[in-house]
Amino acid sequence: MQTRTLGTNGPQTSALGLGCMGMSALYGDSDRSESIATIHAALDAGVTLLDTGDFYGMGHNELLINEALRTAPAAARERAQISVKFGALRTVEGGFTGYDGRPDAVKNFAAYSLQRLGTDHIDIYRIARIDPDVPIEETVGAIAELVDAGHVRHIGLSEVGAESLRRAAAIAPISDLQIEYSLISRGIEDAILPTARELGIGITAYGVLSRGLISGHFSRDRKLAANDFRGMSPRFQGENLARNLDLVEALRKIAEQKGVSVAQTAIAWVLSRGEDIVPLVGARRRDRLAEALGALDVTLDADDLAAVERAVPADAAAGDRYPADQMAHLDSEH
Ligand SMILES: NC(=O)c1ccc[n+]([C@@H]2O[C@H](COP(=O)([O-])OP(=O)(O)OC[C@H]3O[C@@H](n4cnc5c(N)ncnc54)[C@H](OP(=O)(O)O)[C@@H]3O)[C@@H](O)[C@H]2O)c1
Repeated sequence: MQTRTLGTNGPQTSALGLGCMGMSALYGDSDRSESIATIHAALDAGVTLLDTGDFYGMGHNELLINEALRTAPAAARERAQISVKFGALRTVEGGFTGYDGRPDAVKNFAAYSLQRLGTDHIDIYRIARIDPDVPIEETVGAIAELVDAGHVRHIGLSEVGAESLRRAAAIAPISDLQIEYSLISRGIEDAILPTARELGIGITAYGVLSRGLISGHFSRDRKLAANDFRGMSPRFQGENLARNLDLVEALRKIAEQKGVSVAQTAIAWVLSRGEDIVPLVGARRRDRLAEALGALDVTLDADDLAAVERAVPADAAAGDRYPADQMAHLDSEH
């Protein structure tokens, strides 16, 4: 497995991480035994970085990772690096009602996560979205206290903008910023990515397949379950979906010429953007995981990269990456 290092002070991880969210939430129903088999297959292949959130299925995802690590070959926990997001407030019905970044809440969330994960430390800990009522310095300061106490190894951030990156980095070393980055979500290139690089902060890129939209497997007539985020996502609606899938067909021509898949081309493009970027892939089946890992063997040379950028120009996506109410929570978009 190829490796990358997250930021100046962060850990060395596998060059691809496994995002476990879809195994518990947001993309419709998933299969528990296949999810665990997928985590095992990832560990077998040398993937070390497992990304989760305590609110993915209200603890379901952490319990799933716990089970996967307990049932994997020996020493799986020692090899795995668990990245946990916290802070989202949920309703019994599954709604999102805000974020809590108060220092006492941070420590409370961590206590529950450690218990659910069945571990004595979290490798990277981060608030999912900034709590607008709590200065980021206080939230990051609370995680720094968890680092001092040995409960957390590294501090991460999620979906924050350049100014917040600076404020957080002034309080404690930050390993990585987790943020959406793909061929059709390139907003970080203007200010956020250069600031992260200046501060020695790595990037864990999510949505590298734009939640399946640019995987080459999504089609216009796919029926989405009522609990599937994509049913509300602007990029998956009507005319937007048609325009975005046209981009995928342009990408498919390049992938076919190279003898690789569309998903592999999209992941390889993110990998090509810098050694400081670790894509998280949201595979929840072993066949999808195998395809994603194949991207590590795909090299895009200068001609390939130019062709990809002609097929999918930087601002070509139709529709915002989140519905309007969720865009409002993104410090990275302000
Ligand atoms: N910090 C944040 O705000 C934030 C937000 C969202 C996600 N995340 C993290 O990032 C991870 C990845 O995000 P994501 O799941 O939205 O991204 P993604 O990898 O762009 O999308 C995953 C979706 O793509 C589909 N897909 C098709 N081919 C695939 C392949 N070869 N490999 C993997 N997936 C393939 C999957 O298929 P099927 O539908 O067929 O299973 C799944 O629906 C999440 O699991 C989560 O840990 C973080």
